[in-house]
Amino acid sequence: MADPQQVLSARVRDALVAAYGAAYADADPLIRPSQFADYQSNVALSLAKQLGKAPRDIAAEIVGHLDVGDIAEPPTVSGPGFVNFRLSNAWIAAATTEMLADPRVGTPRTTNPKTVIVEYSSPNIAKEMHVGHLRSTIVGDAIARVTDFMGDHLIRDNHVGDWGTPFGMLIEHLVDVGEDSAEAGLLRTDPNAFYQHARVKFDSDPAYADRARERVVKLQSGNDPATMQLWQDLVDMSKAYLRDTYARLRVTLTDDDIRGESFYNDMLADVAEDLEAEGLARISDGALCVFPQGFTNRDGTPLPVIIRKSDGGYNYSSTDLATVRYRVDKVNVDRAIYVVGSDQALHFRMIFAAAREAGWLPAGKDFEHAQIGMVQGKDGQRLRTRAGDNVKLSDLLTEGVQRARTLLDEAERDDEGLDLDAIAEDVGIGAIKYADLSTSRDSAYIFDWDRMISFKGNTGPYLQYATTRIRSIFRRAGLGEDTPGGPIVITEPAERELGLKLLGFGAIVTQVADTAEPHRLCGYLFEVASLFTAFYEQCPVLKADDEETRQSRLALCAATLRVLTTGLGLLGVPLPERM
Ligand code: ARG
Repeated sequence: MADPQQVLSARVRDALVAAYGAAYADADPLIRPSQFADYQSNVALSLAKQLGKAPRDIAAEIVGHLDVGDIAEPPTVSGPGFVNFRLSNAWIAAATTEMLADPRVGTPRTTNPKTVIVEYSSPNIAKEMHVGHLRSTIVGDAIARVTDFMGDHLIRDNHVGDWGTPFGMLIEHLVDVGEDSAEAGLLRTDPNAFYQHARVKFDSDPAYADRARERVVKLQSGNDPATMQLWQDLVDMSKAYLRDTYARLRVTLTDDDIRGESFYNDMLADVAEDLEAEGLARISDGALCVFPQGFTNRDGTPLPVIIRKSDGGYNYSSTDLATVRYRVDKVNVDRAIYVVGSDQALHFRMIFAAAREAGWLPAGKDFEHAQIGMVQGKDGQRLRTRAGDNVKLSDLLTEGVQRARTLLDEAERDDEGLDLDAIAEDVGIGAIKYADLSTSRDSAYIFDWDRMISFKGNTGPYLQYATTRIRSIFRRAGLGEDTPGGPIVITEPAERELGLKLLGFGAIVTQVADTAEPHRLCGYLFEVASLFTAFYEQCPVLKADDEETRQSRLALCAATLRVLTTGLGLLGVPLPERM
């Protein structure tokens, strides 16, 4: 076991049992990295009340029973009752050497695997994904990868908007232009344009608008085969667009992960009926509504969730209620993570509350809205083009790649024999993804090319470059990265700090899985890369004084590379071998 937090936790637990009895065998020793020591335990403070003793006395008693001589210097007590640990260089060296041989780089598999749905991306089909969907796609994919890595049973779920009234309009437009036309081809490349054209026609051509409405009725009846076929064609063409976009983004979603709103369509009538039968839903202003407890308007009147409109149609909320029920009853999910914009926070709170009241979401099922903050333009508003239009996703990606190319061209380095187009693609896409990932997912941030496409700071290019720099050390040494050298010996402070940080990888990944917050991993990897830079400046690797030191430092380089590539892999950031 190489994770210091776990190793120290076990030792402190033993000390607690020795000092206060078996009742403390499950206590959390509250071990955290600290700026005053390598790690600190705050457990004495948390036990003061229970034990009826002063925290400092408890801390002293714990230290009296602690057996850490083989891994750390003698622990000390500080402040109101903190226990401080400084790990021995020998232990750090042994643990980092061990980590190097571990394919999971020190990350324990979850001991109790759960079925976890990560729902993300979820654009509205036949409309272009916008930057909000882009961020959900990128952040959700990282959450999915980490969940999978932990050993949970992961189900990716792309809850696309593939149903509803706009489809009447879209189907009629498809009929008008013909499925083989260039216009229909837009569905595969620029679905938003297709949608806009249909929209303009709908607003200006009353006959077409009437046809569109009739088509909606046919679609919703579900028993007109020609309409269903047209709808299916439309959806299939849009899926081609999504496939291309996900491939370019190196996102793991496939067609098989799509379970759109239409999938739940034939469950909606039951949702309404059952809620009515349970006495939870009632008619208000002609619409069938539930009023989950604790949600009120400003004037104190209860806030409704409309589940059937006055015209008899179902909606987004009815679909989401059916979805919760399906996931619990049919998928038997333990945890569902909805990676969706923060502007839908109230919607999800009310849906989950209503589902709980209906008995469809039992305690112990962990349904959470992983909120995604808005990506803003420089003016703090929604990101727009200069002309004021929504930013087209493919244009955004292309611009990122072009800017990455400029960044590469301007950097002074040896680029002989490199495929700069391919590298620019990795760097541009990586930079955009990393910018979305490195800000805590629920905060808004201002989209800024200069900040994200840069080798300075907590950016994608900086971390990509850090990996290529380590690879080049091995190349220059004539070694493969999988012949890492070693064993690791720690003598210099820069070696110690780097080694200690590397050992924290497993704890961070576990935290990301628990919180569904990938930015924690970004912050950690940035620290690793920065400590590596300091190490590399202070400790010669290939020109080390003796062979043992050279081997040790090569192994530290290899361990750093493993942590960076595994971490960036979990984030879905592409890594060029050279740049
Ligand atoms: N299609 C929706 C939109 O673009 C997002 C769907 C989110 N997921 C859900 N279960 N409601 O706003």
